[in-house]
Amino acid sequence: MKAYNWGILGTGNIAHKFVRSLILLDNANLYAVGSRDAGRAEQFAGELGFRKHFGSYEEMLADPGVEVVYISSPHSFHLEHTLMALRNGKHVICEKPMSLNAGEVSRMIDEARRSGLFLMEALWPPFQPSYLKAEEILKSGKMGKLLHMRGRFAFVSPYDPELRTYNLALGGGSLLDIGIYPVMDILRYMGEPESVSAVSLFAPTGADESTAMIFRFSDGRMAEAYSSFANMAGIATEFNCENGNLILTRGRDRNQHLIIELPGDTDNRIFTPPAQGYQYEAAEVMSCLDRGLTESAVVPLSFSLTLARTLDDVRRKAGIRYPGRDR
Ligand SMILES: NC(=O)c1ccc[n+]([C@@H]2O[C@H](COP(=O)([O-])OP(=O)(O)OC[C@H]3O[C@@H](n4cnc5c(N)ncnc54)[C@H](OP(=O)(O)O)[C@@H]3O)[C@@H](O)[C@H]2O)c1
Repeated sequence: MKAYNWGILGTGNIAHKFVRSLILLDNANLYAVGSRDAGRAEQFAGELGFRKHFGSYEEMLADPGVEVVYISSPHSFHLEHTLMALRNGKHVICEKPMSLNAGEVSRMIDEARRSGLFLMEALWPPFQPSYLKAEEILKSGKMGKLLHMRGRFAFVSPYDPELRTYNLALGGGSLLDIGIYPVMDILRYMGEPESVSAVSLFAPTGADESTAMIFRFSDGRMAEAYSSFANMAGIATEFNCENGNLILTRGRDRNQHLIIELPGDTDNRIFTPPAQGYQYEAAEVMSCLDRGLTESAVVPLSFSLTLARTLDDVRRKAGIRYPGRDR
């Protein structure tokens, strides 16, 4: 089995969690980390066991040993950092959202295709055991036709204009940070909507604190999604089907629940992936590379583009702006 040299771009919250999952994979070499700050890169490398550390992203990407890069900078830098990595000949897995708008996502895809390198948005739920089980049940026909979906992702993040989540220059706001997950679920199972309605409540910085969305599909179905930094509504996606409901939820612990509601029968299955569960998306990257693929069939680039287009539509309807980066 070929082992791949990983480079980590950025040393923030999710980079730590991703690496704690990556460690579980025998074919992943913890090779290099790049930070804007040499001390932070050194500390990250020492703490997690990387061979090399660099005080700039440019130096890390120039290292010929780096084969695949995980982009973990704030959303507003995904475009710049992904293009930089691809132009240095590296395969890329980029954190979600792929970028701030569909035009930028398109540029990233064009660059990956031009260079013949791998690119995938780090949308981790589709690789989780609970999702795979839900998908299997939906495909089995046991639940009947999928009629409606409802998804939410909400937790309390107290307002602080300095936080990434409230800072527009870093792509702050609940829609792109967490609303992307229920929207992703709806698009995966119901396709691209015909029309979108959306309303947001805004924090003083202009970042959307909460966003509520309704999607309408050409076959007459509807779906609802909601994101918020202002309440503890939690994380859940409901599939309302002809014969009953499937509900995927996650609590504050690592447990993933799949609740199967059929008339007179409720089954709650609990899945507890090791570490944070990010190893599955990293394994997918390396499995694609092993097979000479430049994109994943689970999260294809066409899906990332459709997702970005739908998020653009939600933003237009709700009035969510990223000055200078609206298209
Ligand atoms: N998949 C998931 O479950 C998940 C969860 C959380 C976040 N995310 C995504 O991951 C990305 C990062 O989120 P995070 O929570 O890890 O953020 P974070 O803790 O703020 O870390 C972001 C890192 O990006 C680097 N960076 C580069 N330019 C920066 C700038 N101008 N300001 C601040 N940081 C900058 C910094 O690393 P250096 O200082 O070392 O250069 C920083 O530590 C976001 O796009 C987010 O959507 C995904």
